[in-house]
Amino acid sequence: ILEILIKGLQRLEYRGYDSAGGSVSHEWEINAKSIHLIKQRGKVKALDEEIHKQEDIDLDVEFDVHLGIAHTRWATHGAPSPLNSHPQRSGKDNEFIVIHNGIITNYNDLKKFLESKGYEFESETDTETIAKLVKYMYDNRESDISFATLVERVIQQLEGAFALVFKSIHFPGEAVGTRRGGPLLIGVRSDHKLSTDHIPVLYRSCDRMFDLCGNSPMFPITLRCSGSAVIEHTNRVIFLEDDDVAAVMDGRLSIHRIKRTAGDHPARAIQTLQMELQQIMKGNFSSFMQKEIFEQPESVINTMRGRVNFDDNSVILGGLKDHIKEIQRCRRLILIACGTSYHAGVATRQVLEELTELPVMVELASDFLDRNTPVFRDDVCFFISQSGETADSLLALRYCKERGALTVGITNTVGSSISRETDCGVHINAGPEIGVASTKAYTSQFVALIMFALLMCDDRISMQPRRREIIQGLRALPDLIREVLNLDDEIQRLAAELYQQKSVLIMGRGYHYATCLEGALKIKEITYMHSEGILAGELKHGPLALVDKLMPVIMIIMRDHTYTKCQNALQQVVARQGRPIVICDKDDYETIKNSSRTIKVPHCVDCLQGILSVIPLQLLSFHLAVLRGYDVDCPRNLAKSVTVE
Ligand code: UD1
Ligand code: BG6
Repeated sequence: ILEILIKGLQRLEYRGYDSAGGSVSHEWEINAKSIHLIKQRGKVKALDEEIHKQEDIDLDVEFDVHLGIAHTRWATHGAPSPLNSHPQRSGKDNEFIVIHNGIITNYNDLKKFLESKGYEFESETDTETIAKLVKYMYDNRESDISFATLVERVIQQLEGAFALVFKSIHFPGEAVGTRRGGPLLIGVRSDHKLSTDHIPVLYRSCDRMFDLCGNSPMFPITLRCSGSAVIEHTNRVIFLEDDDVAAVMDGRLSIHRIKRTAGDHPARAIQTLQMELQQIMKGNFSSFMQKEIFEQPESVINTMRGRVNFDDNSVILGGLKDHIKEIQRCRRLILIACGTSYHAGVATRQVLEELTELPVMVELASDFLDRNTPVFRDDVCFFISQSGETADSLLALRYCKERGALTVGITNTVGSSISRETDCGVHINAGPEIGVASTKAYTSQFVALIMFALLMCDDRISMQPRRREIIQGLRALPDLIREVLNLDDEIQRLAAELYQQKSVLIMGRGYHYATCLEGALKIKEITYMHSEGILAGELKHGPLALVDKLMPVIMIIMRDHTYTKCQNALQQVVARQGRPIVICDKDDYETIKNSSRTIKVPHCVDCLQGILSVIPLQLLSFHLAVLRGYDVDCPRNLAKSVTVE
């Protein structure tokens, strides 16, 4: 069991966790009524070593029922330390323990209440209040109570977002999981064929356990939605709904809810995850990020597969077909996202405005919420998210739904919260992205938004020449991306010249403003150098003051409607003794002649050129990080899925 738990944690390591790494509890002897907690700061490997140092654990003994829970923490309340890592416990004898993803917003009130009842807190976490609360409720029960019912009572007191798994010495051989707001997935494995592919929900009045298939073992409940932690054991999974309480005991699973409300589905389906283990392995690359950068010729094909017909210039998006008429009637498009996904919105805004002739707003989810932005029934709100779990984007989605807007997801993760809660959407099908710094998801989000823009104007006769031009651009794209990737050696040499610098400025405008923002974000994220994406149109209004002969500057100049203005910006920088490195069209002899250093990329239709201009910066950030000696896939302080506000 420990091996399975540790491996599962390792599979989730790519998501980033800055804290005390993992923690694990294991019930060594079910009848002995003791729970063994092992917590360690640092990487999962350190936890594994710690486990093997434990003298009172016999690693060879075999049990009929194996039950353990494990967790990696990304610190929000309290610094990374063994005390703050999970499982958190009710008291020194580990009567109740709990692991938690998410955030409890009323934990201060709960803590005050529990302190008034004599509980002493040992950690700085919000989670510890849950462990203490469950014990309080157990001690104050009026009659015998099941573990699931106890947990149901506890979550009625909790506010915020959570996925939780509990264990207790009072309920040996049993684990209970529940969620609200955060995702929770149950992996199911059995030696026998399952007798059903649905688990009925038991409402409070009914206490029967559902026997899935005799005494077959259930697989560990894993927090998070990617399935990466269970996929090597099983591809059969159940996604829990908000406020479901799932209990696993002796290989039997039951799912409980307090009461049935209108629209509730009375069963949870066992679904099959379409994910291969090798898909999440690194292959010959030194990091996942590098692998993902080089996968882009294939990942953009996968985004377009079955959707773009290059022979008759048509686009079909199965996920939008029932809603496209309604979207065409809307008054405004609002694209909402965080981080790199936000940049995909910035990158495609202009072509969306052009092809839909609608006003398009592009919003950072947190700011959109802070402003209480007015949203109306005739708005269509897009939520762009690789993981589909980003808390700010999810909250913004719920905010827009409440106001009656149609919601559309652009997500990479089938079954994620955003994919499930939006009215409709497009899965970008880029395959699992593991490096914390997003690369292939960005270019696939970009392509998905372009396909949407093409769909919006497919019956507009005046737009047909432009549509054809873009669709033929999409056809050429994978080969052009390959050509850009061939610049890798040249970019590595450039990185060798730059990696000891403190700062890099990246300037451009029009279609390439997003590339500047995204390139600068990549550099910040994984090299820890200061980097800024600057709109070349704003140069004279401030950033020009930063330019001198020492400051590294990268400029993007492409042959589109902003060409002359970009040439002006180049002259302004050169006049201040700047020596910019220019990313330009390989046939743009004028720019090549006027620049001391260029990175030459192939030409593509203007609105897709941003895909080709960003790849050199993805490669540059990667090489800079390697030269500076940093962990490319797991940058400090960052996480892949940011499931807290
Ligand atoms: C679907 C299938 C795909 C199959 C294809 C064949 C899924 C996940 N996709 O792809 O395997 O090859 O049909 O025609 O089964 N959705 C949202 N929000 C989102 C993303 C998607 O609500 O953020 C919804 C869509 O509206 C749609 C469903 O999820 O109802 C599937 O979306 P998508 O995978 O993009 O649809 P297809 O491309 O048709
Ligand atoms: C995190 C990731 O900050 O979340 C970024 O490290 C990502 O790479 C951002 O762009 C938004 O995530 P998502 O999953 O909503 O696209």
